Amino acid sequence: MAVKTIGVVGCGLMGSGIAQVCAGAGLTTWVCEVDQGALDRGMARIRKFLDDGVAKGKVTAEDRDKVLGNLKGTTKLDALAPCELVIEAAVENLETKRQVFSALDQAVAPDAVLSSNTSSLSITEIAAHTKRPERVVGLHFFNPVPIMKLVEIIRALTTSDAAFAKAQEFVTQIGKTPVLCKDTPGFVVNRLLVPYLLDAVRVLETGIASKEDIDNGMKLGCGHPMGPLTLLDFVGLDTTYYIANIMFEEFKEPRFAAPPLLKRMVLAGHLGRKSGRGFYDYSR
Ligand code: CAA
Ligand code: NAD
Repeated sequence: MAVKTIGVVGCGLMGSGIAQVCAGAGLTTWVCEVDQGALDRGMARIRKFLDDGVAKGKVTAEDRDKVLGNLKGTTKLDALAPCELVIEAAVENLETKRQVFSALDQAVAPDAVLSSNTSSLSITEIAAHTKRPERVVGLHFFNPVPIMKLVEIIRALTTSDAAFAKAQEFVTQIGKTPVLCKDTPGFVVNRLLVPYLLDAVRVLETGIASKEDIDNGMKLGCGHPMGPLTLLDFVGLDTTYYIANIMFEEFKEPRFAAPPLLKRMVLAGHLGRKSGRGFYDYSR
């Protein structure tokens, strides 16, 4: 049975994209944020993406209005009660996710599937904080969600065949391509991508090349759509820093250790595009 009603917790960079894609696939999409201000900012991000799409001729005004009409904003997790599947996309912090999953476990029907968009935390550990560990999976989307086609589907040690199958059907239903993965830190893509991004910061730190030359090297030399430092600004330096710490804690391998420069930039509030400044300046 196709999913009709979905919940998205967190309407930041990722949650807003996930909500937009679900609403675009015709699902009634409940979006929950911590407060009205954060919800308004998330909804405005969705509206802007759709408006840009209309201006580019990629989306019709009618389709934009349909997507917006399928979105229902809330600041109360209880409003997600009718959802058959919930995707959590709050900050990359185990304690936050633990609290969200405990509350969701109470709020939604016992047969609903709960999922996390975590980049690096253990789905098995998140599942253990619920009374339905067999109905918890990882659904890892990629940024920008409306454009990137991939979703990694992560099977925790406790995930049932039925919940895993439901997650696969859902990913196909919203028009994405699944990659199936065991519950390991970073799954497939971040296991490969994160050490590369951290190495780019180390190359910058050692003064081997300028940020522009590092980025151009990978763009023009390897055909990447963005250089690694531009991509770090795009993903968010805070989010990358949290992911690196979690992966280092698990693997204890230096390649996952956050370089000192990354930590200092996060402490300085230079989080990338979202704060107006990261490796590059976005204030203008
Ligand atoms: N509405 C509809 N379509 C839109 C749109 C909009 N508002 N904006 C752009 N598009 C479409 C464009 O029309 C274009 O479509 P076609 O290919 O059919 O022409 C496509 O989206 C690409 O857009 P642009 O050509 O305008 O943009 P671009 O070429 O500069 O590409 C980008 C932008 C897709 C972000 C590209 O730079 C890219 O792929 N960057 C790398 C992103 C990446 O690596 N993401 C993964 C991050 S890691 C992660 O997410 C995991 C984690 O846990 C951290
Ligand atoms: P973000 O900082 O842009 O957004 C997080 C949002 O969660 C914020 O708006 C915050 O207000 C909200 N939030 C925090 N606690 C909440 C709660 N208890 N209830 C509801 N909302 C809450 O972060 P993001 O980049 O969107 O990342 C979100 C998740 O997605 C993280 O787990 C991250 O690792 C993962 N992820 C990020 C990317 C990326 O490129 N940034 C890619 C894939 C996955």
